[in-house]
Amino acid sequence: RKLSASYLFAKQLTACVSAKYSPLRKINVSVIGAANQVGSNLAFLLKQNSQITKLDLHDDDAKVYGIGLELNDLPGGPQINVWSGDNTLDNAVRDSHLVMMVYRVPRRPGNTREQMIAANAPAVKKLCRSIAFQNPGAFLAIATNPLNAIVPFASALLYKYNAYNPFKILGITHLDSVRARTTTAKALGINPLDVSLPVIGGHSDQTIIPLFSNMVPNTNAIDPYQAETLTRIIRKAGTEIVFQKYGKESATLSMAAALNDFINQMKIALSGDEVVVNAYTANPNFGTRFFSGPTKVGPCGIVQTCHSFQLSDYESFLLNSAIPLLNRDVSMGEDYVRYID
Ligand code: LMR
Repeated sequence: RKLSASYLFAKQLTACVSAKYSPLRKINVSVIGAANQVGSNLAFLLKQNSQITKLDLHDDDAKVYGIGLELNDLPGGPQINVWSGDNTLDNAVRDSHLVMMVYRVPRRPGNTREQMIAANAPAVKKLCRSIAFQNPGAFLAIATNPLNAIVPFASALLYKYNAYNPFKILGITHLDSVRARTTTAKALGINPLDVSLPVIGGHSDQTIIPLFSNMVPNTNAIDPYQAETLTRIIRKAGTEIVFQKYGKESATLSMAAALNDFINQMKIALSGDEVVVNAYTANPNFGTRFFSGPTKVGPCGIVQTCHSFQLSDYESFLLNSAIPLLNRDVSMGEDYVRYID
């Protein structure tokens, strides 16, 4: 069964709008893949967050118990539960409001993100099963590559398990907007914290599209030549880190910090307000079934996906080139369900 654009949002929209929501006082977060370098850095940041009530850390690697012990030596913050092995995944997600999927085999120099699907899809599948049967109401936020394909893959699996809620599944593309903001601010000699710069498309070297024409502060300082150069740097940032770490890792510190940023926003959403996160979600507005960009999220799920922007000629060219690639990645993810199930 293919996901069709018309089906993506119709059913749950009514459910979401009409649901009576009581703001959460306790916020439980699960980190799946908590023993890898992204997961453990993220757990470290979250342990210092007193607004999280409970943190469930899961990894196949039993060294996650050591990570839990270490974090438990730190005062304050959330209560920590640690789980290892497939048979504990259900427990790790059962009463979470937000499940963060950060499991990943990092790519090696020369690999594209798309080539990581075989390495990473099995773990995503196990998680989707647990969420479907234990906690289908949770938000599922994914940082596992290839993001362009893995989010459709997880969506198609949840659909198959009758637990698909397109309003609650998000691929996290915060790192792209963090990179775009910082790289551009550096080029302009301004403070990145003063810059807002939408990044749309997907999460791969040919689908990340920073929109300099929509940047705030609105500046003409970026000419078309610079826009091209900066776009190339932003798109290649992840690949460059893979090279500079000699194939041992990809981005771990900046990834964990960007995920922490995302969780901070989601906490506000779960407490009853609407926030904007950068996310790759079901989104039929651009001629693909999934698309990334600024996405408004409230306590019941996505309120508004990324929609139209005024684009420069160069940005329109990038978007038109990215759409067929996104469609290819989305189909690869949806079709992968057949290989693995
Ligand atoms: C990144 O952009 O840093 C991540 O997608 C990891 C990678 O493989 O590049």
